[in-house]
Amino acid sequence: MSSHGTPLPMTSRKCGPLKGQAHVPGDKSISHRSLILGAMAVGETRITGLLEGEDVLDTAKAMRAFGAEVIEHGGGEWSVHGVGVGGFAEPENVIDCGNSGTGVRLIMGAMSTTGISATFTGDASLNSRPMARITDPIALFGAQSYGRSGGRLPLTIVGAAEPVPVEYTTPMPSAQVKSAVLLAGLNAPGQTVVIEKEATRDHTERMLAGFGAEIVVEDVAEGHKITLTGQPELKPQTIVVPRDPSSAAFPVCAALIVEGSDVLVPNIGLNPTRAGLFTTLQEMGADLVFENMREEGGEPVADLRAKFSPDLKGIEVDPARAASMIDEYPVLSVVASYAQGDTVMRGVKELRVKESDRIDAMAKGLRANGIEVEEGDDWWIVKGRGHGKVAGGAEVDTVLDHRIAMSFAILGMASEKPVRLNDGGPIATSFPIFERLMADLGAQIERSNS
Ligand code: S3P
Repeated sequence: MSSHGTPLPMTSRKCGPLKGQAHVPGDKSISHRSLILGAMAVGETRITGLLEGEDVLDTAKAMRAFGAEVIEHGGGEWSVHGVGVGGFAEPENVIDCGNSGTGVRLIMGAMSTTGISATFTGDASLNSRPMARITDPIALFGAQSYGRSGGRLPLTIVGAAEPVPVEYTTPMPSAQVKSAVLLAGLNAPGQTVVIEKEATRDHTERMLAGFGAEIVVEDVAEGHKITLTGQPELKPQTIVVPRDPSSAAFPVCAALIVEGSDVLVPNIGLNPTRAGLFTTLQEMGADLVFENMREEGGEPVADLRAKFSPDLKGIEVDPARAASMIDEYPVLSVVASYAQGDTVMRGVKELRVKESDRIDAMAKGLRANGIEVEEGDDWWIVKGRGHGKVAGGAEVDTVLDHRIAMSFAILGMASEKPVRLNDGGPIATSFPIFERLMADLGAQIERSNS
């Protein structure tokens, strides 16, 4: 079910070799940030390759509600006429961010230091996710928040009319929290400082520098220290959004487990704060090659070639890599099912508060399809059965989570019996062309219960 629709059951069955090129959509994280920073600049920002998934479209709508002019020109080309830092108008209605934690958290940060109020809501998944991680730091700037118990949405923020700058150490590895504080700091006078113990995706820092903000990133004893000078005039940019490594993960992982496959995924953003999955897959013995490494628009980019890898081995995934592959653990657990031996994933507590509790959702669905899984609060172990030995045959609950839905669609491509999804609708939040793209490669995913 999308945030606006009815459940969309799907069945994924064993397919022949996957072959060809997979042109995955634009990066979700960079797409959200392009629209939000574009809305905070003065003048016209041009964006090409924007992800036109529901999550990002909800952010586009939100930026319009805050007074920016956001125009779609077709074919992934968009422009944003920004209102300047501190220039947001008060929205006339509730801001519905659908399924998107990134959208709502970044926007809450950005508006929290302007003298306006806004009320935020989302779908059942988003309304169950923790928001205190944002309302706590924005309170330090002077913003007030009134939400449901546990700081959950729907939630109203009364922005700080006279914000003060803040020094904040993020209590968990979260680019969303870091980014919300930095966006809040944009409209506070003086220097806002964010310290993170572990590096998380740095698209906000890169983009703020691109828009002309004064931002300094240093390695210090406590970790990473980011210092932003407030109240800059952001200069509009031309942004080319690279293709999303988190979406590339699905055709790449599918190619590794489907016999005879050879898939090229061109133009993938390989920012080191995002690329942990690919290193992990190579450690497991994946036939994965980076071709044509280059830099585009301030982000490293390459073409990825993935081939069927019959001898995958379970490994202990380096927990230091968790933040750089946090969205990829669900599909990694699918590859781990087709590997020989245990894949051990530790230091992944954050997986329990994503669009769903992703450890729980994957463990339930994998077990139903014949894979043994052990789990604890911040760890899980998938007991791989090896190529050709995954039973399948069960229906899984995709719990309003796009990555859970796509991961189980991949599981079914090499399992003995088909895997059914109770609802493939959430896929449209981040990868609206998933079914067509996978079908073009040779996958067999049907919209039915058959
Ligand atoms: C995102 C950060 C990550 C990630 C999410 C996108 C971002 O969340 O899971 O899909 O764009 O900043 P956290 O920062 O909460 O770990």
